[in-house]
Amino acid sequence: MIDQTVRIFKNIDSTDIRILTAIELGMQKHEWVPLEHILKFTKISIEKLNYKLNWLTKNDLVRKTQTPYDACQIYFEGYDALALNTLVKRNTINALGSEIGVGKESIVHEAICEPEFCIGDPTPSVIKFHREGMTSFKQVKRNRGHLAGKEHFSWIYAARLSATREYNIMCTIYPEIDVPRPIDHNRHAIVMELVDGKPLFKTKLTNPENILNIILSQIKRLHQMGIIHSDISEYNIFLSEKGIKIIDWPQYVTCDHPHAFELLERDVSNILTYFSRKYKIKTNLKDLINYIVNENNDRGNEQ
Ligand SMILES: Nc1ncnc2c1ncn2[C@@H]1O[C@H](COP(=O)(O)OP(=O)(O)OP(=O)(O)O)[C@@H](O)[C@H]1O
Ligand SMILES: [Mg+2]
Repeated sequence: MIDQTVRIFKNIDSTDIRILTAIELGMQKHEWVPLEHILKFTKISIEKLNYKLNWLTKNDLVRKTQTPYDACQIYFEGYDALALNTLVKRNTINALGSEIGVGKESIVHEAICEPEFCIGDPTPSVIKFHREGMTSFKQVKRNRGHLAGKEHFSWIYAARLSATREYNIMCTIYPEIDVPRPIDHNRHAIVMELVDGKPLFKTKLTNPENILNIILSQIKRLHQMGIIHSDISEYNIFLSEKGIKIIDWPQYVTCDHPHAFELLERDVSNILTYFSRKYKIKTNLKDLINYIVNENNDRGNEQ
């Protein structure tokens, strides 16, 4: 199903992109970007700008105000359009598909990357738009509090920072660790390989011990690289006949983080609780943490 984002992106033209870019740049200095700034940057008439801004506002790409002066802010869908435009221009993606996941802090769409010179099959991939700060922003938008502008600022930075962080760590650990292949990144968006299979919580395993061991050995390998995922759960591990893929990396920490040990314990404990509840596998958290943190600790069933 082609949804709202795809429909809007299809209807955007180069003038819309110039207007959105002007607002994005203006927001480095202003909470609300004055119309004069946009006029100067885009060099279009005030009539055309007003006409375009009405459409962009109606479709939730920007927000307008008249007090204390005529001005605009970019909204999530407007930022999505800018990132998409860049990724399409770079030939990273050629088409956007349906929405396949909505996380607490992101929206994930299918995307197509055609191979160069159209030789071979297109790479099935996904684009993850970060939405950090969205909930608080929507709340503020409803209440129209005095913080509205500041909240708006913070979501752009939070989302961009989080996407950059996630993309960089995936590039660092791929392919050593089983993560989707990172493909490209712009603003608050990441393009990565579409993972096969299902999330762990939707599977019924015939070999749960084996899968548990694979997951633990990945956590150990990651720890040896100095990294802790910090949000490992049955929702962030995908499983297929090819093996596992661990997704959702923006909250990772390095092993010198002040809470590194607690975060590692929480990751391992989440997994053990899941396998113990669903498959009645009994393991000892302390032993497993030792196995993970000690280089030479052989459990005898390490993958
Ligand atoms: N590479 C991928 N291939 C297929 N589906 C994916 C991929 N990445 C994400 N998804 C889907 O999108 C959902 C949300 O992604 P992710 O867990 O990375 O985002 P999040 O907003 O951080 O989620 P959470 O709700 O765990 O905080 C996933 O649960 C999954 O269904
Ligand atoms: Mg997730």
